[in-house]
Amino acid sequence: MKSKFLLMLISLVFFLNACSKDDNDAAEILETPVANAPKDVNDNGFKAKWNYVSHSKSYLLDVSTSEDFTTILPNYNSKEVTDLNEVVTGLTGGTQYYYRVRAKTEAQISDYSNVISVVTTGSNGIPEDPTFLKVKVNKLANPFFVGMAIKVSQLTNGTPYDVILRNEFSSISAEYEMKMDQISTASGVYNWTVADKIVAYGNTNNINVHGHALVWHNAVPQWLKDFSGTDAEFAAEVKKYITDVVTHYAGKVKSWDVVNEAVDDNGGAMRNTIFLQRMGPNYVKDCFQWARNAAIAAGDTSLLLFYNDYATSTNIVKQDKVFAILEDLKTAKVIDGVGFQMHNTYLSPTKAQIETDLNRAVAKGLKIHVSELDIQVNQFNDISSFTNERRLAQKAKYKEIVKIYNALPAANKYALTIWGMKDNESWIPYSTELNHPGNDWPLLYDSNFAVKSSHTGFLEGLD
Ligand code: GLA
Repeated sequence: MKSKFLLMLISLVFFLNACSKDDNDAAEILETPVANAPKDVNDNGFKAKWNYVSHSKSYLLDVSTSEDFTTILPNYNSKEVTDLNEVVTGLTGGTQYYYRVRAKTEAQISDYSNVISVVTTGSNGIPEDPTFLKVKVNKLANPFFVGMAIKVSQLTNGTPYDVILRNEFSSISAEYEMKMDQISTASGVYNWTVADKIVAYGNTNNINVHGHALVWHNAVPQWLKDFSGTDAEFAAEVKKYITDVVTHYAGKVKSWDVVNEAVDDNGGAMRNTIFLQRMGPNYVKDCFQWARNAAIAAGDTSLLLFYNDYATSTNIVKQDKVFAILEDLKTAKVIDGVGFQMHNTYLSPTKAQIETDLNRAVAKGLKIHVSELDIQVNQFNDISSFTNERRLAQKAKYKEIVKIYNALPAANKYALTIWGMKDNESWIPYSTELNHPGNDWPLLYDSNFAVKSSHTGFLEGLD
């Protein structure tokens, strides 16, 4: 009797234990796997990898060409794998892919892992879209000028520069040959030769000419730096220069950057330039007023006057100061637009940062010039050749900014200007201000004038 009772008790304990274990199993949530960087990336595939999840029996692998997995490759749509890696094959070279996994038991499937991005090596064999930029832009409901920074040496008839310019671009900005230190050789003495050629090239080829730039602290001629007159006489020299240049090009140059980079990078202050020191904080407004007066006196009532600056999308203190100046110029009714230089990188600024910056200009009713766009891919000097990964990242970033620009209200669009034609001639690696540590590939054409994926990205941004 006693042993029978003991047996019953033991059975009961076993039974209860078994029940509670089952309950635990059912309640236990299957962990989400962590996907890892791929291995053995080659022209047609790679080895996708992930971490072990306890209790899991297998893993479901997705591979896609889109980061949000809207379309998944048929062979890798929840592909069941029992191992902790899978050799993905049959892909295209030089192409961006993404993968993610879920863990699986008989009864459960986990959440999706993180997404891993991988670019296959080699070339996808698909040529870049040969459509000319301005041709596509001019078909838009609300087109804008597609600009290029140029040097006079590139404007010789029949050179590849000239052919590309006339095919693809509807606006030009002189990279440096229309700045004060190039035009003004002494008080009231001007060397118009080079600048005249640039303006004539635009005018005869029906290409818009954007004047860059009347006043910039980095292009002050030596005679003006050394000027020994009073501050009032210094201001009179600046007024004379602005008046003479605007008058000389009245009706030939559609817009001018009147002042370039008047705001400091730190503390939201005015940049401490010779103009600020000699003319005081109202100098920006004075320069705009002189430019406006000169244009009107010369019979040009439609000249557009721009303030131009850089890094305002990421440096909010600077952005605030620039917009305070714009407000002041707007109140004085002397400004038409703002130039955002946009010497960007493949990582920065973000879409949201650019949109916030540009939308402040929309709210002020200003025309917007993306005035010096280039997109660095080697700002950390971590690559020694232009990799597929950076090529595609740059393409995406060009596409992004063109999309943002194209979405602006018609009244706010003016021009989107690329700062140089060929990668090997870009100012980026040589700039002491940027302190760029190595080589880079920031533009739309390679050193052989061939269009890059960034050029296709520009076109795709217009869709
Ligand atoms: C600044 C100026 C440009 C040019 C670049 C470097 O962005 O606005 O005129 O000098 O630097 O090419």
